[in-house]
Amino acid sequence: MKFPSMTLLLVGALAASISEEVEGFTATNPVSLSSVYKSQQARFHQLQSTATRDDQKINNGQGNTESEEDRVDMNIYNLPLEQAIQEWTANLVTESAMVAEGIYLGAKSSRDVFVDTERIIGIKRRQGQGLGIELLEIAGGREDGLGITIVEGLVPGGASEGRGLLPGDCISKIAVHRTGQPDEIASVATECLGWDATVEAIGSLPAIETPNEYLILTIKRLRRKPKVTVNFQYPPDQGEEDTTIELFAGENLRRAMLVKGIKLNDPLSKRFDSGGSGDCGAEGTCATCSVSVMEGMDLLNEPGLTEKQMLENKPRWRMACRAIVGYGMKEGKMTVRVNPRQWN
Ligand code: FES
Repeated sequence: MKFPSMTLLLVGALAASISEEVEGFTATNPVSLSSVYKSQQARFHQLQSTATRDDQKINNGQGNTESEEDRVDMNIYNLPLEQAIQEWTANLVTESAMVAEGIYLGAKSSRDVFVDTERIIGIKRRQGQGLGIELLEIAGGREDGLGITIVEGLVPGGASEGRGLLPGDCISKIAVHRTGQPDEIASVATECLGWDATVEAIGSLPAIETPNEYLILTIKRLRRKPKVTVNFQYPPDQGEEDTTIELFAGENLRRAMLVKGIKLNDPLSKRFDSGGSGDCGAEGTCATCSVSVMEGMDLLNEPGLTEKQMLENKPRWRMACRAIVGYGMKEGKMTVRVNPRQWN
């Protein structure tokens, strides 16, 4: 995301401010919320005013076009607690079509780590009991209540045990629902708050009125970005060594090859559409960018109808410009032959 230069300064200042708190903060307050949750009933109106911002699209890091069988269990990419403590940071984000202006959680190593969003559902509200979550403040101590508070553990037998919440998660919103009612009856935003403000927000939720109330937690979770290692092989006549590169899941194969300086378009190939030479600029109409996938075809997206028709006699071939590596957030290894027309 691009920021105006003035905003960049502000972002830098805020990020630096919070980072300083992270470095200077001694995290020694893991406390069960079970006692706090039932005793705090004060309203936290400021937080509630921003509670809807997490109703933005839940991405799960996967987009929305894959079928169920394409999807991988994203939890294999979770960061362990110790690493998550080092990675969490907070960023001021300006308003856009996707998100309201505010301070949001981020990852320090954003090139390799991303913040995913999940919903934890079905946490039953129990009279006289709390969430059963141990919280750890890793940044805080500010008068404005800003900070970073994460889940450190779950109370055995508590309401949250077995619901999918994990150490290292940050709770960004807690919503109260009643069975049979489509809409939440109350919610609080808890993203980027210190421990005290988090507890105050949770305590501001209304008291339990009926036995059929449950909570939905929107949580932020740090995950490493899955990678695909691609070994490129060149036609024997070219006498070139293999090239191996590492791509993030979701990268376009042709674009990545061009960026890395890997020869792509075959001088021998004729355009599929016109019979002439020259590529179509990644429009999927010339087939001059074709590669032969010797290993790891399952790591690519399914070819579209046009690509299937154009390459119907070449089951190993894919148009690089139409190929997304690590599709569905998969990772693994691929072996790809460039200029397949020059291979015997
Ligand atoms: S560049 Fe033309 S089909 Fe890929």
